[in-house]
Amino acid sequence: MLNIVIFGAPGSGKGTQSDFIVEKYGLTHLSTGDLLRAEIKAQSAIGKKAQVLIDAGNLVPDSLIIELLEKKILETPDSPGFIFDGFPRTVAQAEVLDSFLKEHQTKVSIMLNLHVDEQTLIDRLLNRGKTSGRADDNLETIQKRLNVYKTKTLPVLDYYRSSDRATTVDNNSTVEACFEHIVQAIQTVK
Ligand code: AP5
Ligand code: MG
Repeated sequence: MLNIVIFGAPGSGKGTQSDFIVEKYGLTHLSTGDLLRAEIKAQSAIGKKAQVLIDAGNLVPDSLIIELLEKKILETPDSPGFIFDGFPRTVAQAEVLDSFLKEHQTKVSIMLNLHVDEQTLIDRLLNRGKTSGRADDNLETIQKRLNVYKTKTLPVLDYYRSSDRATTVDNNSTVEACFEHIVQAIQTVK
């Protein structure tokens, strides 16, 4: 099984690169942000709880995310592997993912850390905000999301570095150049 964690700040290209990876490797894409937005659209109990937090740029509680994600993994038992996008976002989530995958005799093969300069992130998100319809794509919430990323999510990078699974990939240039580097990184663990 090939299990990939795609990691990076808000707007670093996780969703964009995941689409390419899915096309090439046939993995199941699990974006916790997309899953939460689907719950919000359906106005489910989870969705209602998540909406206030997401609109303010805060994280949703670990327990809620883990429940949502484990359900999705178990729904696709025949998948050749998963790409986790926007998850784990806290060290606690990373630990739960490791033990969950271990119970299923598998593991995270590689963590791809997408690096983009901060001003480029902001410009890309503001640009996406013109058409995305995402309530969190405005300057104030983008800045909040970047702060939450630095304080709560960045420690996840050290977690994967300490077990030698993290690879940093630059995404300041084109989408294609970034994907080329991702393919090279994946070849080392396939
Ligand atoms: P989530 O949906 O995961 O949002 P995010 O991490 O802020 O990231 P984005 O989806 O905004 O960006 P991306 O990295 O996917 O970039 P994209 O490819 O779109 O989470 C949203 C919220 O949900 C969180 O704030 C939190 O509240 C909650 N949440 C989610 N998961 C959670 C969890 N595990 N725990 C707790 N809470 C959770 O690219 C961005 C733009 O740039 C696009 O327009 C794209 O076309 C463009 N672009 C990409 N690459 C390039 C390039 N090389 N050149 C030019 N443009 C480019
Ligand atoms: Mg995304």
